Amino acid sequence: MSMTFNFTGQTVVVTGAAQGIGLEMARFFVDAGATTYLIDFDDEALSKAAADTGGRGVRADVSSTEDVDAVIRQVIEETGRIDVLVNNAGILRDTVVWKLSDEDWDAVLNVHAGGTFRFTRACVPHFRTQQYGRIINVTSYTGLHGNIGQANYATAKAGIIGFTKTTAKELARFGVTVNAISPNARTRMIDSIPADRAAELAATIPMGRFSEPAEVCSTVGFLAATESGYVTGVVLPVDGGISI
Ligand SMILES: NC(=O)c1ccc[n+]([C@@H]2O[C@H](COP(=O)([O-])OP(=O)(O)OC[C@H]3O[C@@H](n4cnc5c(N)ncnc54)[C@H](O)[C@@H]3O)[C@@H](O)[C@H]2O)c1
Repeated sequence: MSMTFNFTGQTVVVTGAAQGIGLEMARFFVDAGATTYLIDFDDEALSKAAADTGGRGVRADVSSTEDVDAVIRQVIEETGRIDVLVNNAGILRDTVVWKLSDEDWDAVLNVHAGGTFRFTRACVPHFRTQQYGRIINVTSYTGLHGNIGQANYATAKAGIIGFTKTTAKELARFGVTVNAISPNARTRMIDSIPADRAAELAATIPMGRFSEPAEVCSTVGFLAATESGYVTGVVLPVDGGISI
């Protein structure tokens, strides 16, 4: 798949890259020639992912401003630039709203929306200097349509859509595009749903199945490409038609 994309000479940062969709996106960018940083707070999985893909693993918690700023400092020190930022890290703390604790509300918002905000803010000075940048955020069907047991996640993912559109407007003048994808991929996030519920969900997807994680990569590659510079503020579903 990466054969058709060339990111040679570019620096790419993918958050939540130790497994799932993030891991496949990191592999895609490494294969397409980019110096690729895999960011995750799961040390063990991150070491394996970095070795597996040939990317550079950096341990960081996206909900910590200190960690995020340190990552971007390191990336700039080592490569002198940052071209593509993929805000993908995510967690679930599912339960119905009347059982939802403050802790689980805050954690989910801090990782999804907060991590996306922190990494974007840290990259902007460098994007402005370069007059170039590509940001791809990861949202969800749940952010648009809601889902029982996911009030925290839906709020965070809807927030990411507003954040994507706002920053697309703010950063366009600096040659930066900001877009989002809405995936539907078989990862441990999907595997954590009870099997009968997952089967019910798959049956509602026009394509009749969840995608493999790697199937999102060509869409991410398109949005990250230099040639896609007139596409901004878009939420692109890569979801087998579930949002039709
Ligand atoms: N799988 C799907 O179908 C689906 C659907 C819609 C949206 N998404 C979104 O796609 C993204 C990736 O999901 P996935 O299914 O690959 O999940 P996953 O659980 O397989 O991977 C998520 C990764 O993020 C990392 N992470 C979590 N919190 C972190 C933190 N605070 N700091 C650093 N790293 C952290 C985890 O360690 C993990 O490696 C998420 O944002 C998720 O909400 C997934």
